[in-house]
Amino acid sequence: MGHNSHTALIDALNGLLADLFALYVKTKNFHWHVAGPRFRDLHLLFDEQATAIFALTDLVAERVRKNGATTLTSLGAMAARSRITPQDRTDLDAMEMVRELREDNIALVTAIREAKLAAGEAGDNATEGLADDWTDQAQQRVWFLTQTLA
Ligand SMILES: [Fe+2]
Repeated sequence: MGHNSHTALIDALNGLLADLFALYVKTKNFHWHVAGPRFRDLHLLFDEQATAIFALTDLVAERVRKNGATTLTSLGAMAARSRITPQDRTDLDAMEMVRELREDNIALVTAIREAKLAAGEAGDNATEGLADDWTDQAQQRVWFLTQTLA
């Protein structure tokens, strides 16, 4: 594995790790604060999605370690790296929450694709293979959120 492709892979995985943590917190924020006539459905949907996102963080971080590198180590480091737009409002309209999470999960699909491409360049077949499942999960979330908006 070349030096540059290895560095690019670690960078992509750590960026993805930061995005996942940020999206986990954002989805939990919406789980905690969603309001309106669809409260129960959305409260439960957001919790399911947050749980699935959180489970991915460990898999991504451990791909970094198995590649002999170090992961991000703190919330501060993750906030600095994440490309997910933070949302600190607690009074957002429920459908606005759905719309934001939909966009964020679409962005996550792109981040996963970047990590998969970097894994291919670096000859990391395991990450390449896992990335397909991460993509399927993100696309499932996008689908549920899209149908919720319809
Ligand atoms: Fe809860």
